Amino acid sequence: MADGALLIEGVTAGYGGGDVLHEVAFTVPQGAITCVVGPNGAGKSTLLAVISGLLRPRAGHVLFRGERLTGRSPREILKAGVVQVPQNHSLFTEMTVTENIELGGYTLGRSLTAKRRAAVEAIFPDVANWGKKKAGSLSGGQQRLVEFARCLMLDPALIVLDEPSMGLAPMTLRTVFDAVRRMNEAGKTVLLVEQNARAGLKMAGYGVVMENGRVRLTGTGAEVLEHPEIGALYLGGAPRLDQEASAVPEASAVPEADAVPEADAVPEEGTVPEVGTVPPADVGGGPGIVPRAGS
Ligand SMILES: Nc1ncnc2c1ncn2[C@@H]1O[C@H](COP(=O)(O)OP(=O)(O)OP(=O)(O)O)[C@@H](O)[C@H]1O
Ligand SMILES: [Mg+2]
Repeated sequence: MADGALLIEGVTAGYGGGDVLHEVAFTVPQGAITCVVGPNGAGKSTLLAVISGLLRPRAGHVLFRGERLTGRSPREILKAGVVQVPQNHSLFTEMTVTENIELGGYTLGRSLTAKRRAAVEAIFPDVANWGKKKAGSLSGGQQRLVEFARCLMLDPALIVLDEPSMGLAPMTLRTVFDAVRRMNEAGKTVLLVEQNARAGLKMAGYGVVMENGRVRLTGTGAEVLEHPEIGALYLGGAPRLDQEASAVPEASAVPEADAVPEADAVPEEGTVPEVGTVPPADVGGGPGIVPRAGS
């Protein structure tokens, strides 16, 4: 892999009841999009909490551009240029879009806020047009873009996104993925956790597969996509007969290949898929399907 913007080294962490992450290690190369995929409960959000300083690892550490993030407060980590957009929608729905975005820069002075807003609106011109609307009046996908715009106000070097497409209608996925790509093209390194694994890996330069709190595989996005076992297990590919038994904790827990819709079939703009057909997750088949370590 290329130079690491973010190095995750031997991270073991949990919530008191035991470890959720076990010696997690991988590199997030500078300037690229890295996509983490894995079943529900694999520990993806837990890893992001470690990166953001919300959860202190029991062992291991995270380095960003050679500086140690582990042990620093979330605020210090923000200042170091690492900004996370959380998994749950987080806008103030009664406030306008502009107010929400300016909140992202509340620590900045007036002139810097204006300068940053202009830069953000150059990346997301649509968001500028929605400025006076209440955030709550926007669609789910539009709200996602406003959340991205808000995080850009801090001019982060690394943007960490936890399942940005979660809960969105299929026709909106493309908008959100395009927005991620645009932030990357604007020079941001992106670390993305994505349930729409195929679409996420297709867009990403690098892929990481997590399972039961461990890294199963790392490689380029294409390498992960084309990996035969991984494809069968997580991406809705056809299961292989020679698949190792050890690759699956419980063979019966693997979703049927045809039960999982193709994630790379992100609909073209303008095609209107039926509302309510959004799969809850493209990886692992649903909450609790994959047994967790120690459970
Ligand atoms: N705040 C918490 N306190 C205790 N246990 C937690 C907490 N958050 C997550 N866990 C547990 O840690 C494990 C990993 O959860 P995590 O949310 O990191 O998985 P995930 O890969 O992000 O899953 P999903 O795809 O559903 O978002 C699960 O067993 C979960 O129940
Ligand atoms: Mg999660």
